[in-house]
Amino acid sequence: MPGTFDRSRRSAVTRRVSKNFDHALSKYFGVNTPDAKAGQGAHDAYVAALRAHGTEVTVLPGLDNHPDCCFVEDVAVMVCDKAIIPKLGHESREGEQMAIIEYLRGGSEIIHMNSNCTLDGGDVIFLDDRYLIGISTRTNRAGAEFLAKYVKEAGFEVELIEIPDSTLHLTTVCSSPRPGTLVAAEGHLSINQIGHLAEEIIWVPNSETYAANTIGYPEDKVIIAAGYSATRQLLLDAGFNVTTVDMDAIREADGSLTCLSQFNA
Ligand code: GLY
Repeated sequence: MPGTFDRSRRSAVTRRVSKNFDHALSKYFGVNTPDAKAGQGAHDAYVAALRAHGTEVTVLPGLDNHPDCCFVEDVAVMVCDKAIIPKLGHESREGEQMAIIEYLRGGSEIIHMNSNCTLDGGDVIFLDDRYLIGISTRTNRAGAEFLAKYVKEAGFEVELIEIPDSTLHLTTVCSSPRPGTLVAAEGHLSINQIGHLAEEIIWVPNSETYAANTIGYPEDKVIIAAGYSATRQLLLDAGFNVTTVDMDAIREADGSLTCLSQFNA
């Protein structure tokens, strides 16, 4: 419904981990070379968690020539019945959009960004009646403004947020697990940037930055990465029912929970 983002998460498309996941981009969280087998194991657990929360999940095949192909959040941004297809912010990822376009074409109008625009879907957060769009090393101002035009036409507000170089995407350090709430990582975003956007901001400690990326479901259910006890406790204290998924192998390629899905209904 225009004006309020639908959080029901009835369906999502995901993509299996590339056989060449060891060549995936990794700069922020990775400690070891990404491992395709371990990555697929984490992906399987992730898909199982989404299904357990009621999401109908389509799993597309991996792409050998696109090591980052499992990060489907980046390759399209849904604005009601329109799928905005960006030019991706890192040239090595160009081309990942094609197979998602084929998938989305059935139910959505496909809109390609202008050639001067770059944007990764990981720089977009849906917060109730507003889209938060990060301007980052991947998303340029032209890309953010291109998306903003369609968002506003659909009846939503837009907030542009400058992302520090300390992080990859806006969703790397921030998420909205329920209406009126943001989870954000200390040291990456400031109260001045996001304090006016939500009734409740749950700040996770900088040492648990990775856990700021969450997937919220109705009735205060939330999926978070396993291994972040302070964040888990903060969310329990805030009344959430918390499920954890071991994301360590995906984290090696700087991927978070939301990166692995394109929720399209
Ligand atoms: N490895 C995900 C990205 O850098 O885009």
